Amino acid sequence: MRVLVTGGTGFIGSHTVVSLMEAGHEVVVLDNLSNSHRSVTRRIGEIVGTAPEFHQADIRDTERLADLASDGFDACMHFAALKAVGESVEDPLGYYENNVGGTISLLQVLLDAGVQNFVFSSSCTVYGEPLSLPLTEDMPIGTATNPYGWSKIMMEQVLRDVRVANPDWTVTLLRYFNPVGAHPSGLIGEDPMGVPSNLMPYVAKVAFGELPKVQVFGNDYDTHDGTGVRDYIHVVDLAEGHVAALDRHFDDPGTHIYNLGTGQGSSVLEIINAYELASGQPVPYEVVGRRAGDVGANWADASKAQQHLEWATKRDLAEMCADSWRWQQKAR
Ligand code: NAD
Ligand code: UFG
Repeated sequence: MRVLVTGGTGFIGSHTVVSLMEAGHEVVVLDNLSNSHRSVTRRIGEIVGTAPEFHQADIRDTERLADLASDGFDACMHFAALKAVGESVEDPLGYYENNVGGTISLLQVLLDAGVQNFVFSSSCTVYGEPLSLPLTEDMPIGTATNPYGWSKIMMEQVLRDVRVANPDWTVTLLRYFNPVGAHPSGLIGEDPMGVPSNLMPYVAKVAFGELPKVQVFGNDYDTHDGTGVRDYIHVVDLAEGHVAALDRHFDDPGTHIYNLGTGQGSSVLEIINAYELASGQPVPYEVVGRRAGDVGANWADASKAQQHLEWATKRDLAEMCADSWRWQQKAR
């Protein structure tokens, strides 16, 4: 298949481009490089043998997109979005404009061009405060605590409605849990600008000596050691989930929803311990107060994806930490 990948030089997009190309698909990457680097396509080329076609463009640039789409795509995987939760609170309009507005203008171009298969990067954030665990796809959508989260909830709704109005469309909503790790080659990974706000990239910098210690946000949650529990998933497993979803649901009209997680939760302290083991470096930490907007625990029921997509995660926490550490150590 010929697949348009928006946000394809970003963290999850780049790993998915590798998996798509390894599975024999032809990939066209579109990214405005607001949170990634041009060199990523060359690095993908080093991993798979050929670099993907690349266009530096914004999803809101309708003319440019229409021009690209006129060449014909079998499917679009849409990763492009702004994703910093704190920044979204400070700049809600910017976030809604880019994430919701951008998705709407992309969808219009695809509709006009007759591209009918759409895979969307959603998030477990749409569940809000969990009613019970593990989270299953049929649970009601919750209340987000920030504009980034709301933008995912809104886009899921937009996509459901677009699919109802266009019965030939196939929409697949993939709800990611916490993607971490990096490609085992050490050539691509997550490259957050400034001080990371997510746990594993932060821990990586502490192990590397770039930051003094991890702040553990709360140890009074109702979890086995009191610290926050999340379902961390290796980004390569996540990428393979996208290929499986595309294969399974290509030209399969409907809205298909999957959790992509391991089904297992790990606490903040477990992540710190696993990282110390993988890196051989100490990871000092201090417990501070809870972070506003955090839920205590969430993890996926991943059985729907396992059954329908014939996909399962293969990489454990030790491998997530080892691959993150390899990436952290490479000079970039
Ligand atoms: P990322 O920032 O690494 O990748 C996003 C890419 O989109 C970047 O390369 C950026 O330059 C590009 N982009 C942003 N706005 C654009 C625009 N208007 N036009 C063109 N390109 C644009 O983030 P990621 O972690 O790879 O996330 C990918 C997707 O997965 C996002 O939609 C994100 O919301 C979603 N998601 C991420 C996580 C996570 O923890 N990383 C969890 C759940 C969902
Ligand atoms: N944490 C710390 N210290 C830190 C960073 C995080 O203790 O310096 C804790 C958090 O409190 C939480 C856990 O580590 O318990 C994971 O936090 P992350 O920030 O890595 O991940 P979140 O689950 O909070 O958020 C992620 C994505 C969001 C997305 C959300 C739900 O970053 O974009 O999952 O999908 F909205």
